[in-house]
Amino acid sequence: MKPKIFVTRILPELVMERLNEHFIVNVNPEDRALTKEEIMLGVLDCDILLCLLSDIIDSEILICNPDLKGIVNYAVGYNNIDLKYATKLKIPVTNTPGVLTETTADMAWALIFSVARKIVEADKFVREGKFKGWAPKLFLGADIFGKTIGIIGAGRIGTAVAKRAAGFNMKVLYHDHNSDIEQDIEAEKVDLKFLLQTSDFVSLHVPLLADTIHLIGENELKMMKKTAIIINTSRGAVVDEEILLRALQQNWIAGAGLDVYEDEPKITNGLINCDNAVLAPHIASASVETRTKMGFIALENAIAICHGKYPPQIVNREIYES
Ligand code: GLV
Ligand code: GLV
Repeated sequence: MKPKIFVTRILPELVMERLNEHFIVNVNPEDRALTKEEIMLGVLDCDILLCLLSDIIDSEILICNPDLKGIVNYAVGYNNIDLKYATKLKIPVTNTPGVLTETTADMAWALIFSVARKIVEADKFVREGKFKGWAPKLFLGADIFGKTIGIIGAGRIGTAVAKRAAGFNMKVLYHDHNSDIEQDIEAEKVDLKFLLQTSDFVSLHVPLLADTIHLIGENELKMMKKTAIIINTSRGAVVDEEILLRALQQNWIAGAGLDVYEDEPKITNGLINCDNAVLAPHIASASVETRTKMGFIALENAIAICHGKYPPQIVNREIYES
């Protein structure tokens, strides 16, 4: 008999096909997020929970089925899961690192271009029939080539963003407590203050942890250049969104490119009226290739767990060590 997997949202077709080969699949048939009660109902009758970064998996969900064998998160970030509690219950939790690195780095750059060159506003202008001919001051943006980019968090994604900067002859600064990337790319490790004060583009690539919540607040935004642009493809709560709104309204900085928000899918009131912000709906890993690969990784981990094997992308490896 095949093990049972509960999938909280329909995934790309190829992924669903493969899941069906290996599991009895119970999938949310509707294209919407499930409520906590609905998730619990699904968890009650499954071996594996395959969930999304938007599903909050708290202690109540974790204890509702003592036979739950594992949780495979369809994301690299796993701040949506009460990991401490899962570890206490010895439930393995896995993520999907690696495959979304380059896709997310591409998105950070897409936001850099869009904000610096006012692409979204300009597109709207054309569609509204306002383009009456070339004009010397029409949509003046900022150069990217030759400028300084500051990367906060130089893990896989931050490093991939930094690598792309070489093609634009940019100076790369980075801030990270753990990794050193100077061996791999031309970049300079600096403290946060220096990075904020000197970068033309600041791009965030830290995970959401107790010490990265509101890493960027009033002091930090005020340290940045008035001409600087901030890009967030990490987690919304890394930035104090209320303060960022003020920074954009009062021109403390020149602009922001955001893919993530503090309280998704809610967006701080006023942000959508800021022309100097480009707002994307958490789509950094959203390429067909990557979303499919993420599914295959989740599947591989689910299979390993069901076979009593060490899942390759385990997040709480300590449960196998004790
Ligand atoms: C996306 O935000 C992820 O963590 O995979
Ligand atoms: C995620 O892949 C990261 O570590 O940056």
